[in-house]
Amino acid sequence: MNRDLEKLQPYPFEKLNALKAQVSPPSDLAHIALSIGEPKHEPPAFVLQTLQDNIERLANYPSTKGMPVLRAAISAWLERRFKLQPGSVDAERHVLPVNGTREALFAFTQAVIERGAKPLVVSPNPFYQIYEGAALLAGAEPYFLNCDKDKGYVPDFDAVPEEVWQRCQLLFLCTPGNPTGAVIDTATLKKLIALADQHDFIIASDECYSELYFDETNPPVGLLQACAEMGRNDYQRCVVFHSLSKRSNLPGLRSGFVAGDADVMKKFLLYRTYHGSAMAIPNQFASVAAWNDELHVKRNRDAYRQKFDAVLNTLDGLIDVQKPDASFYLWAKTDISDLEFTQRLYAEQHITVLPGRYIAREANGVNPGEYHVRMALVATVEECVEAAERMKAFLTKG
Ligand SMILES: Cc1ncc(COP(=O)(O)O)c(C=O)c1O
Repeated sequence: MNRDLEKLQPYPFEKLNALKAQVSPPSDLAHIALSIGEPKHEPPAFVLQTLQDNIERLANYPSTKGMPVLRAAISAWLERRFKLQPGSVDAERHVLPVNGTREALFAFTQAVIERGAKPLVVSPNPFYQIYEGAALLAGAEPYFLNCDKDKGYVPDFDAVPEEVWQRCQLLFLCTPGNPTGAVIDTATLKKLIALADQHDFIIASDECYSELYFDETNPPVGLLQACAEMGRNDYQRCVVFHSLSKRSNLPGLRSGFVAGDADVMKKFLLYRTYHGSAMAIPNQFASVAAWNDELHVKRNRDAYRQKFDAVLNTLDGLIDVQKPDASFYLWAKTDISDLEFTQRLYAEQHITVLPGRYIAREANGVNPGEYHVRMALVATVEECVEAAERMKAFLTKG
């Protein structure tokens, strides 16, 4: 067996289940799960209809590269959303549809890492767990940058030692971040692009929460947008990951895309041809419909806005938590250990949250997830409000 498999940690939800199994929840309260980042809003009906209308196309093998109509819809969306130079995202060369960004983040890492050179994969901490597993299975060493509150939950890139940048082959960004919701600003993105040039590494920006923001006049910037502002219209060394899972409430469709540097994308396509993960044709048509529509995304944001306002209003002054820049997560600081907080909240109020330490690793002597819990406001408004009320009772009791 592949020895690197032994380096993988149990997935956070396995650890969470073991933690919860030690206590019994109250049977008179219905369970509310704020732990998993699975959107629960309705998927758009017209997307489901498009899927049905094309269901007979399951009779055909899809191509790994995806249909031109899908790649064209994606490049048009990217240019519109991130104010890119019209025509700069060539649907033929810059874009590949993927079966959700999870598999793509993993596969991309396997494709780009050169094993012989003591590679580092640099990632935020806390982080989406795939970054670490992908790095380990690609034969690279993960290197974590803590995201602390005093720096707005964005890693302190200036403090990264020169030797780290020299060994870095791949830098993961997550903006807006999971679990912090922090958005990396344009100036920082530009600085990182200059570092990528200087030390010859690739930046993979995971932007799957980019459409869940609060201020309609100020959507989060993205890595390709920073490239465009630098006049870097070939997007060299930069790739972005986007998904319909959160934007359009379609986590089961398994639809996203990777876009950026044409040379990198060419090699990634070659990798994927052997990897063998082409998107089913009905899913491709459904994805075209979803990327071409913004109204349902705006409605989605409205629903999240309502939930954040209600929950934060109820928790005001009771726990150290702020509205994030974007995303559907609250990243709350706890007075007691995150494990105790999670276990007691489950035992007393039948609410599940995720202990921060499960999605972070110790770096520079601290685990930045400790004394934090992640709450995903994915349930209905009513359920989120009920969860906030129960949490208020829990926090007030102390
Ligand atoms: C930061 C981040 N990236 C990527 C993903 C994967 O999303 P999907 O595979 O559904 O596109 C998730 C899912 O929770 C996530 O939180």
